[in-house]
Amino acid sequence: MAMEYFPCFYFLLFSLIQFINCVQPATRTQDPIPTDKLLVLTVATAETDGFLRFMQSANYFNYNVKILGMGEEWKGGDVGRSIGGGQKVRLLKEAMESLADQEDLIVLFVDSYDVIFAGGPEELLKKFQQVNHRVLFAAEGLVWPDKRLADKYPFVRSGKRFLNSGGIIGYAPNVNSIMQQWDLHDNDDDQLFYTKIYLDPLQRETLNMTLDHKCMIFQNLNGAVDEVLLKFGTERVRVRNTVYDTLPVVVHGNVNTKIYLNFLGNYIPNAWNYEHGCGVCDEDMIDFSQLKDFPSITVGVFIEQPTPFLPEFLQRLLNLDYPKDKLTFFIHNNEVYHEKHIQKFWEETKNIFKSFKVVGPEEMLSQGEARNMGMDTCRQDPGCDFYFSVDADVMLNNRQTLKLLIEQNRKIISPLVSRHGKLWSNFWGALSLDGYYARSEDYVDIVQGKRIGVWNVPYMAHIYLIKGEALRTELKERNYFILEKLDPDMALCRNARELTIQREKDSPSPESFHMLRPPKGVFMYITNRHEFGRIISTANYNTSHFNNDLWQIYENPVDWKEKYIHPNYTRIFTENLTEEPCPDVFWFPVFSEKACDEIVEEMENFGSWSGGKHQDKRISGGYESVPTDDIHMSQIDYEKEWLHFIREFISPVTLKVFSGYYTKGYALLNFVVKYSPERQAFLRPHHDTSTFTINIALNNKGTDFQGGGCRFHRYNCSIESPRKGWSFMHPGRLTHLHEGLPTTKGTRYIAVSFIDP
Ligand SMILES: *[C@@H]1O[C@H](CO)[C@@H](O)[C@H](O)[C@H]1NC(C)=O
Ligand SMILES: *[C@@H]1O[C@H](CO)[C@@H](O)[C@H](O)[C@H]1NC(C)=O
Ligand SMILES: *[C@@H]1O[C@H](CO)[C@@H](O)[C@H](O)[C@H]1NC(C)=O
Ligand SMILES: *[C@@H]1O[C@H](CO)[C@@H](O)[C@H](O)[C@H]1NC(C)=O
Ligand SMILES: *[C@@H]1O[C@H](CO)[C@@H](O)[C@H](O)[C@H]1NC(C)=O
Repeated sequence: MAMEYFPCFYFLLFSLIQFINCVQPATRTQDPIPTDKLLVLTVATAETDGFLRFMQSANYFNYNVKILGMGEEWKGGDVGRSIGGGQKVRLLKEAMESLADQEDLIVLFVDSYDVIFAGGPEELLKKFQQVNHRVLFAAEGLVWPDKRLADKYPFVRSGKRFLNSGGIIGYAPNVNSIMQQWDLHDNDDDQLFYTKIYLDPLQRETLNMTLDHKCMIFQNLNGAVDEVLLKFGTERVRVRNTVYDTLPVVVHGNVNTKIYLNFLGNYIPNAWNYEHGCGVCDEDMIDFSQLKDFPSITVGVFIEQPTPFLPEFLQRLLNLDYPKDKLTFFIHNNEVYHEKHIQKFWEETKNIFKSFKVVGPEEMLSQGEARNMGMDTCRQDPGCDFYFSVDADVMLNNRQTLKLLIEQNRKIISPLVSRHGKLWSNFWGALSLDGYYARSEDYVDIVQGKRIGVWNVPYMAHIYLIKGEALRTELKERNYFILEKLDPDMALCRNARELTIQREKDSPSPESFHMLRPPKGVFMYITNRHEFGRIISTANYNTSHFNNDLWQIYENPVDWKEKYIHPNYTRIFTENLTEEPCPDVFWFPVFSEKACDEIVEEMENFGSWSGGKHQDKRISGGYESVPTDDIHMSQIDYEKEWLHFIREFISPVTLKVFSGYYTKGYALLNFVVKYSPERQAFLRPHHDTSTFTINIALNNKGTDFQGGGCRFHRYNCSIESPRKGWSFMHPGRLTHLHEGLPTTKGTRYIAVSFIDP
C-alpha cells in the first residue's frame, strides 16, 4: 500500500522546491556566513559587574570576543550621554589595523558595561546578511550629540532615523576604513565622529553603510523602553520590539536605562524563565569545602529607633551558624532604652566574638555617620572579607544566612526579607523618575516566591553583605551613606549604582556631574533562593512599660506568638495535647516561660496589689465577695491586648474542648493573683461569674512556691501540681464550685479571666 504513495510524494516535494527556488532566489544564492568569521570587539577598562554580565551572555552563545583596553585608564569621559568615547575609537582603530586585510571577517563592535546578548552568532550573521550592506550601525530615535545634524540624515518612512555608536557590525576592510579616519582625542565624541562619516553621502555609498532602523540586531533602550517586552521561551528569554515586531540580538541600556537593562538582564538570555527557573544562580558560586578557612566578617548592627524584640534579634545573630571567632561586631545603638539589652548581650558574648564594639546614643551620631563608621570598620581592615550590615528590625530565621550569601559570590547581595503577610520588603524592583519606589512587573512574584533567583535590583536595604575587597576598590570612597537629603540606604544604593561621588571635584558645572568614569555601577542583588526571615514593624512601639514587647500582639503578631506562646501550643490541635485532670476541667499549654516571667515582672513593677479586700473600687458595685490579692490587666493598660490574646489563643481551644461553643472572647475581669502565706494563701470555695474561666499558672511549684493548686468539690478532684505556662479551662458556674488550695511557702502567681460573664 505505502509504496503507491511514493511517486506522488516525490513529485510534490520536487514542485515545492521548484517553487521556493523561483520566488526567493536571493536567499538561495547567499550561503550563511560561518560563525568563525565573526569577531566581537568591545572596550572595557575594568571588569565591572556590567562587564561580567556581558561576558556571561557572550559565553552563553559562544561569541568570540576580543576585549580592548582592559586595565587602561579610562580617558573617554562618560560613555553615557555626554561628549566622550573617543578612546573607544582609538582602541578600535589600533585593533582594526591588523584585521583590515581579512576580506571576509565580520566585526561586531559593542559596548560591554551596559550590553547583553539576547541571541547567538548564527542569528546575528543571518540578519546582517539580510540587511545587504557592508556596515550597519545601531539606530535610535533621538539625535545626539549635535541636534543640528538631524536634517542631514536620510529620511526614513518607518523606523529609527539617527545613528547610535553603541553597536556597529561590518566587514573588516570597511570598518577599518572608517576607523582609520580617527585623529581626535580620547575624550572627543565617538558618536559625532561616526555620524559625520555616515552623513557624508559619498562615504555612505562607497563604504556601503546603513542603520539598523528597525532594531533587527541592535536595541538601544534609551527612548525605547516602552517599545520592548520580555518574551519568554522554554529555553531562552528575549526582548521583543513591539513596534517593529523584531527580536533584537544586542540589547543596550544606553544613557538612563541602566536600571531597566538590569531588570531585563534578570531574564535574558538564560537568567530566569518559567520552565527552568534561575539559569545562572549556580554560576561562580563559592564552594565552602574548598576554602581553607571561613572568611572574616564584620557585622554592623544598627539600632536606630526603639525596636521590639531586640533581645530576640540579638539572639538570632548569635545563633547564626558561623564560627564566632570570625565575627567582628560593630553595634550602633541610638536608643538609651536599648542599652540594657546591649549590655546583657555584650556580657554574654564578649569573649566569643573576635571583637565587639558598641557606639552608644551618647555619641550623637547621625544614622548616616554611624553606617559610614560601621562600613569603614571593614574597609580599613585588610583582613575583613565581608561586611554584613543588619538593622534591628530584621528577624533572621535562617541560621545559614551568612554562608548562603557568601556562597552566592556577589559584590553586594541582600537576602529578601519582608513584613509577614505583606508585600512590604527590603528591595525595590524599579525606581520612579525622581529616584523613589516604583513597582517592577516582577516585584510581587519575587516577594511571594513565585519567581526564585538572584535579582539585580536598584535598591535594597535593612540587610546586606558586601565584599571587603569591593569596599577597598570600587567602593573605596568613604561616606556612602550621606548624600543630599536621601535616607542613608537610598544614598548607599545610589552611590553603588552610579558612583556619583567619583565625579571630578574641580569641575562644578552641572555638566560635570555627568563626567564620570565609565559607569562602574556595582550591581546590588537580592536573593530569594531561601527563606531568610522577616522585617518587623517598629511603629507604635510604646516603651513606657516594663516589658514592652508584651504589648506587640497587634503590631508584630508573629514575633509576639513566637516569644510568648508555649512552643507546644499548636500541638493541642495536631496531637490532642489537652489533658482533662478533672471532669470538664481542661488543661493545656499556652504561655511560654518568657510570657509568664514578664507578666509577673510587669505586675510587680506596677506593685499596687489589691490586698484581697471585699471593698473594691475597681469593679462595678464596689464589693467583691470572694476577693483575691490581685492586679487587674486594665490597671497596667493591658486589657485590650489581653482580650485579643483570649480571642486568638483561647477561643480555638474552647471550640475544641467544648465543641460547638463559640466564645465571644469577652471578659470583664482579667487579673493576676498573688498567693503567699504572708498575704493571701488560699481562696475559699466559690463559683465564677463566667461561662468558663481560664486560670494560667505563671510560675513553678517546687522552685517558686510550695502547695497551691485547685480543688473541684462536685467531683472531689484536686489538681495539686500546676504547671507553669499551662492553663485550666472550666465552666464557671453550677457544676464547678472550686477553691484555691493554700500556698504554703513562697509566692504563687496565676492569671485569671472570667470569660463570657
Ligand atoms: C552594499 O553591499 C551589498 C553586499 O555586499 C551589495 O549587494 C550592495 O549592492 C551594496 N550596496 C551599495 C549601495 O553599494
Ligand atoms: C504608652 O503607654 C503609656 C502607659 O500605658 C500611656 O500612658 C501612653 O499614652 C502610651 N503612649 C502612646 C504614644 O500610646
Ligand atoms: C513540648 O513537648 C515535648 C514532647 O512532649 C517535650 O519534650 C517538651 O519539653 C515540651 N516543651 C516544653 C517547652 O514544655
Ligand atoms: C483528647 O484529650 C482529651 C483530654 O485528655 C480527651 O477527653 C479526648 O477524648 C481526646 N480526644 C481525642 C480525639 O483523642
Ligand atoms: C475525696 O477523695 C479523697 C482522696 O482522693 C478521699 O480520701 C476522700 O474520702 C474523698 N471524699 C469524698 C467526699 O468522696
